[in-house]
Amino acid sequence: MSQRPYVIVNVAQSLNGFISGKDGRKVIISSPEDMVRVHELRSEVEAILIGSGTVIADDPRLIVDQNVVQKEKFPLRVVLDRSLRTRIGSRVYDSSAKTVIYTAKAREDDRKCEIRTRDEKGLKLQNILSELHEEGIRKILVEGGRSIITNFIEERFIDEFYIYIGDIIIEDGGLELFSPGFEIRNVIKSVESFGKGVLISLDPYHLQRLWKTQVKDS
Ligand SMILES: NC(=O)c1ccc[n+]([C@@H]2O[C@H](COP(=O)([O-])OP(=O)(O)OC[C@H]3O[C@@H](n4cnc5c(N)ncnc54)[C@H](OP(=O)(O)O)[C@@H]3O)[C@@H](O)[C@H]2O)c1
Repeated sequence: MSQRPYVIVNVAQSLNGFISGKDGRKVIISSPEDMVRVHELRSEVEAILIGSGTVIADDPRLIVDQNVVQKEKFPLRVVLDRSLRTRIGSRVYDSSAKTVIYTAKAREDDRKCEIRTRDEKGLKLQNILSELHEEGIRKILVEGGRSIITNFIEERFIDEFYIYIGDIIIEDGGLELFSPGFEIRNVIKSVESFGKGVLISLDPYHLQRLWKTQVKDS
């Protein structure tokens, strides 16, 4: 494969295993201590990538909190939005950092960002990552959502994988992070108590190997 950036995935999950509320509704899962860690992670990468579902549900700004880490330049924000369904006024398109959208739509609009129209081949993660690598991006943070993370696992592109379990049980939980349709064990690398929650680091290579084998066999 062509070269790609080093990929870190970070996601927060409730005690009952959900990453969102009912119908994808946004729920705050991370503790303040965890948010500091997230901003530190953001400050260490050159780009942050999310899917259109996350932009629509959570409307994140994806910048580095200057009270946590002083940064002269924020990481590039990369939005995967095949059908260009995110709102023009979404916070990820504000002027605080550069944003690029990967889409299949040719439309140019008033978003303050670069729209990269690609065919289905060009929208393959491998090609997006290789293009970003060619632009000098060596480390990228993937912040969701579920279908984007699943896609990264299936393609075996993850090098570091963090799940923060927050001190919350979500009523009427919506999305689970994983539902591979088969059993997977022994993928935890380390566990750390963190604020009022738990930070789990997975062994992404092992997880992706098991996932790939199962998908192939099923
Ligand atoms: N707890 C957490 O840490 C956390 C973090 C992030 C998000 N979330 C939650 O996760 C949910 C969103 O997850 P989700 O699975 O619904 O959506 P998502 O993964 O954020 O975005 C999925 C969408 O991205 C587009 N896409 C995927 N691959 C693409 C590609 N290669 N090129 C171009 N576009 C591509 C597709 O758009 P099209 O449909 O147009 O094809 C797809 O529907 C929300 O409920 C949010 O609250 C939780």
